[in-house]
Amino acid sequence: MKTFNIAIAGLGNIGLEVYKNLTKNKKNILEKTGFKINISHISVKNPRKKRGISLPKKLFVTSPLDLVKLENVDIIVELIGGSDGMAKKLVFAALKNGKHVVTANKALIAKHGDELSILAEKNSVNLLFEASVAGGIPIIKSIKQGLIANKINHVYGILNGTTNFILTEMEKKQSSFKEILKVAQSKGYAESNPHSDISGADVASKISILSSICFGSKIVNSNFLVEGISHIDLLDILYAKKLGFKIKLLAIAEMVNNKIKQRVHPSLIPSTLDISNIDGVTNAVVVDGVPIGRTIYEGAGAGKGPTSSAIISDITSVMVGNDDFSFGLSPSAKKTFKLFNFNDHKSKYYFRFLAHDKPGVLSVITSLLAKNKISIQNLIQDPDQGNLSSIMIITHLSKEKDIQVILKKLRNKKNIFKKIVMIRVRDENKL
Ligand code: HSE
Repeated sequence: MKTFNIAIAGLGNIGLEVYKNLTKNKKNILEKTGFKINISHISVKNPRKKRGISLPKKLFVTSPLDLVKLENVDIIVELIGGSDGMAKKLVFAALKNGKHVVTANKALIAKHGDELSILAEKNSVNLLFEASVAGGIPIIKSIKQGLIANKINHVYGILNGTTNFILTEMEKKQSSFKEILKVAQSKGYAESNPHSDISGADVASKISILSSICFGSKIVNSNFLVEGISHIDLLDILYAKKLGFKIKLLAIAEMVNNKIKQRVHPSLIPSTLDISNIDGVTNAVVVDGVPIGRTIYEGAGAGKGPTSSAIISDITSVMVGNDDFSFGLSPSAKKTFKLFNFNDHKSKYYFRFLAHDKPGVLSVITSLLAKNKISIQNLIQDPDQGNLSSIMIITHLSKEKDIQVILKKLRNKKNIFKKIVMIRVRDENKL
């Protein structure tokens, strides 16, 4: 009976949880896979650091790169993080040296996944990264294996626990973005640098990986719209609610006329839509395929428990040998598609302006919209702020290009504050 030797590179929160859960589940894994596992090495920066658990010191190596040359290592679990630096060096070297790699590193896969998957195929080893997208939801396996019979044209969802938690809690606690961000950090949801959560960069990597798997395409990791949530105020959440919407940070990838339309931005979605009720740190992914139709997957999107669950699933896939292609198809079969020009995107748009409460200010806004053929669907004016007033508008269907033009103009108008909040609206009830 073969024993698989596993080396863990990086012993932070996640690494420690993987160690604990693998150790606890050895018998279970043997029963389910028919193979034994053995954690043979752990690379740690600081072997003396207190971790609240006694670890056999003989497992420790100090340089992760030492792992790739060791004869008795079968699988390297990369948990160092970052798209470049040591994580990149380790994964490239591991695959070249015939080691299987399991990683949770979305930044690395989004940036170098095409190259890495070619290397994995060339060296007849696996490169798996279930934990890189949507934490504990087995979305990558579901798409690659469960939905193998489908042509997928649309995938979207809530792919960041931290930002979803922030948006949910702002509404629940009637609190500001800044206050809730602190809570998210104290709960350990946010990345070490929360900027990547807040700016949408974390979600961008995740949708780049998902769209490549769904469409069988080379990874699209640049030149698409990525907007975060830091400009969203409690007021926007409350106005949206008044009009029957929730604000969610969505990642969306579609095939439109044989072009990839991929984007990350906050969206107003109808509060009757199922994913509008995905709250807190939970993630959800909607995949639309033919012949299956619309499917939805929901679960914890961040945290050590869910992430370790996904990593262990990948480890067992390597052992059983049932998941050969990193992106669900041979890297040589991946296609390159053109990108949709986002200037041609059409949707309704939400705006919030803060303006001096003076005669004619509202008409400056409405006449500029009219001049640019942008028609107003809803308008609320909230004057109760001394000599200032908030104006909220939702437009009818408009073109992104026209919206950007009027935004620029409005930001230079007297009596209107420069910070104008614009959020795109997805208002169909069955998306
Ligand atoms: N910071 C990420 C999130 C963790 O909040 O979703 C999982 O990628």
